[in-house]
Amino acid sequence: MPLGRRELLRASGAAAVTSLLPACEPPPPPPSGRFAWGVASGDPTPRSVILWTRLAVSEAETLEVELFDDPEARRLVTTASATAEPSRDGCVKLDVEGLAPGHVYYYRFRALDGVSPMGRTRTLPEGPLAQVRLGVVSCSNYAAGFFHVYRHLADRPDLWAIVHLGDTIYEYADGEYGALRALDPPGLCLSLEDYRRRHARYRTDLDAQAALRQHPLLAVWDDHEFANNASRDGAPGHDPVTMGPWSDRVAAARRAFFEWMPVRDETRVHRALVLGDLARLILLDTRMDERDPAPLDVADWNREDRRIVSDAQERWLVDLLSESDVRYTLVGNQVLLAPFPAMNNVDAWDGYPAQRGRVLGAIEASPAPVVVLTGDTHSSYAFDLPGPGYDAATQRGAIGVEWGASAISSPTLASDPREAERVLLAGTPHLRFTEQEHRGFVLLDLRPARARAELWLIDDVTTPDAAPPRLVRAFETTAADRACREVDATPSRLDGAAPPPAP
Ligand SMILES: [Fe+2]
Repeated sequence: MPLGRRELLRASGAAAVTSLLPACEPPPPPPSGRFAWGVASGDPTPRSVILWTRLAVSEAETLEVELFDDPEARRLVTTASATAEPSRDGCVKLDVEGLAPGHVYYYRFRALDGVSPMGRTRTLPEGPLAQVRLGVVSCSNYAAGFFHVYRHLADRPDLWAIVHLGDTIYEYADGEYGALRALDPPGLCLSLEDYRRRHARYRTDLDAQAALRQHPLLAVWDDHEFANNASRDGAPGHDPVTMGPWSDRVAAARRAFFEWMPVRDETRVHRALVLGDLARLILLDTRMDERDPAPLDVADWNREDRRIVSDAQERWLVDLLSESDVRYTLVGNQVLLAPFPAMNNVDAWDGYPAQRGRVLGAIEASPAPVVVLTGDTHSSYAFDLPGPGYDAATQRGAIGVEWGASAISSPTLASDPREAERVLLAGTPHLRFTEQEHRGFVLLDLRPARARAELWLIDDVTTPDAAPPRLVRAFETTAADRACREVDATPSRLDGAAPPPAP
C-alpha cells in the first residue's frame, strides 16, 4: 500500500520535530554597516556575471563595483557603477560584461561611506572541459536550523557554483515551521514588504552570506518563496477573503525574489547554462509556470493536458534534451521526477503523470546521459529513472538518474528514519538509496568519463556549532550505462589547485 507524504509524516510523528527544538532565540541585532546583507553573484555566462548587493536607502544612491583578477585587489580588471533605489528595496544587480571565459574574479562594492566585503565569482567555461564541481542544495529554513551547509560550502573553494533548487526562504510565521531562530517579519509573509523583510532576515545569516560571497549562485524558486504547495490558482493555506487576491501575493513574492537573488532574467526562472562541452544545466520552474493545482480525482489526475510546467516550458525542455553538443544534461528540478509509488506525492511529478511520461520519453531519447537534481524532500535520494522493461536486479532499462539533495536546514519528514527508509525502498524498485534523517547537500563532480554524486550529511543543524559533514554514499552514471551505480564513498578531488577564496 503506497505510503503518502502525509501518512509518512503521521506514521513517523513528524509534528514532534519542531516541538523538540530549543525555544526561540531572540532576533539578532539589526545589521550594521552599509553592506550588512553581504554580496553575491550569479548566473554567469562565458563573458559576464551578475553581481549583487544591498544598501538600506531612503533615496537613490550611486555605488561602484570594482572587479579584480586577484583576491588581494592588486589587478583591477574593470569598474562599473549602479544605483541603489528604494523602489527595489535597495537591492543592486549589475551585469558586468567583457570578461574572459572560465575565469575566477574578485569583486567589491564601494558606497560613499563604506566598502563591501570582497566576493569571488567565475564566468562559464567554453570549449573542452575536464571537470566541473557543483554544490547542490535546497530548503534553507532559517527558523528550523543553522545554515551549516552554507558554511561548509563557503569553505570549499574547489566548487564552481552553488545550485539552489528552491525554498531559499520560507514564508511561515514564527513557530509555524521551526522555532529555533526568530523571523522577521514575525507573521506570515503576504505583502511585498513582508517578503522583502523575510529575504533580508535570511541574508543577515553570516553562513548564507559566506557561501554567496565565495561562489556564484544558480537559484530557482519552489513553493516557499510564495506559499506552501503553491500553484497557478492558489495555495492550500491561502484564503483570498482574508489574505487578498492570490495574484497580488504571487506578484509580491516574485518581485522580492528577483530583487534579492542574483538572477539575470527577471521574467522567468527556467533557464539553461552551458558548461563547456561537458554539460548543459537546465533549471526548471515546476512551481509557478502555469502549474495545475492538486488533482480533484483520479480522472483529473490522469488528464493528458494536466501540467506541472507550461506547454512552452515543456517544449523548451524537450528541445534541450535532444541536444548533442554536451556530454551530460543536468536538470535542476524542484520536486521528485521519478515515479515514487511508495510516496505518491501529488505535489511532485507524481501528480502530473501524463506530462512526466512525455519528459521521461525525451530523457530516454536524449543523446547525452541525463542527471536530474532535485530538492524539496528534506532527505537524500538516489534513483534510477526507469525506462520500459526496467529490471531492478540488473538495473537494465535505466534511462537516467535522479539524485535528491537533502535540506540545508528544514526538518526531516520522518521521526523514525530507518523505518521510513525501509518502507520507501521496499515500495520502489528503482530507488537505489535513501537517507531520511540528516540535513546535507549533494556534491556533483562531472568528468567526461562519468557523472558522480556524493551525498554529504551533517549530524545536527539545531546547535550553532556543528561537526563537519560526512560523505555517506557516492553514485555514478556514465554514457554507456545510464543507471545509478553505487561506488566507493571516497571524496572526489579538484584537478589542480583551487582558486583562492575571497579574503
Ligand atoms: Fe522545503
